[in-house]
Amino acid sequence: MENKKVIFSGVQPTGKITIGNYLGAIKNWTTMQEEFNSIFCVVDLHSITVNQVPAELRKNTFDLLALYIACGLDPQKSILFVQSHVPAHTELAWVLNTVTMVGEMNRMTQFKDKCRKHADNINMGLMDYPVLMAADILLYQTDLVPVGIDQKQHVELARDVAQRFNNKYSPTFVVPECYTPKVGAKIMSLQEPTAKMSKSDENENAVVTMLDDKDTIMRKFKRAVTDSDTVVRFDAENKPGVSNLLSIYSCFTGKSIAEAEVEFEGKGYGDFKTKVAEAVIEGVSPIQAEQQRIVKDKAYLEEVLKDGAYRASKLAYKTLDKVYRKVGFIPRVR
Ligand code: TRP
Repeated sequence: MENKKVIFSGVQPTGKITIGNYLGAIKNWTTMQEEFNSIFCVVDLHSITVNQVPAELRKNTFDLLALYIACGLDPQKSILFVQSHVPAHTELAWVLNTVTMVGEMNRMTQFKDKCRKHADNINMGLMDYPVLMAADILLYQTDLVPVGIDQKQHVELARDVAQRFNNKYSPTFVVPECYTPKVGAKIMSLQEPTAKMSKSDENENAVVTMLDDKDTIMRKFKRAVTDSDTVVRFDAENKPGVSNLLSIYSCFTGKSIAEAEVEFEGKGYGDFKTKVAEAVIEGVSPIQAEQQRIVKDKAYLEEVLKDGAYRASKLAYKTLDKVYRKVGFIPRVR
């Protein structure tokens, strides 16, 4: 690889990808891939920590890979691959487990949230999720991890684990940093704008997905929660709903929040919501068309998967071999 910084990120192939995932993650990655050695993963191993329907998981994995490409991630410029195709992820996770303390896992906020949400299925994988994520990151000697703030604690854990391993054995891993983009890092629920827009939200109206049709998008924005005020002004604390809509509008049009505020001066919320919906429809329509074209081209996707796994494996096993040597395993004859 050339002498550029390495970025690694991943999305779970669960449910539909929201405009929040797009704006907060995938869209930014498309510009980053020009500047960095970029690796983007569909993290299917992570997704089975909560119950999945196997056939749906398979479909969602293809859908997400096609969506990555439709959004502009280029398999020539970046490494795009599916996590389960590179066994080094689980292999490294095992070793990292031995430098991770149960106590620190118990403190992970997402783990605690998920235990509450999936009380009937608190499995070891759910608890180990952050360690597998650390393995994802550390395998590629990643410098920067572009993720939303909700993933910050997980990246911190990856740093801690890397440092601990480096100290216990000898310098092996690059200690990664969280890379949170300035805009669009956090898109909120349309129904409860103080909570993050989450693809697992049970209220359909709260979430706009990248594959929603035009009418659905319009309907969801028309029903978006605002406030009893009438002014379109950004104030995340006192006007979370309106502020969220302004953020979405700004992200999809490229206009600044200030420009948008001027544009909607004296306009009612009805008009404003329609305009936001139109901007979103205009933004997602070409991506949807491209995603549908790609997902039908299974031969192409198979080729992308094969090439991605091959390129990722080469890098991953370089690190894993080093790790195995340091911990005292007998070198494997290849
Ligand atoms: N936990 C991340 C999420 O839910 C997904 C993920 C898995 C990830 N492995 C990763 C993100 C490695 C960045 C780097 O959003």
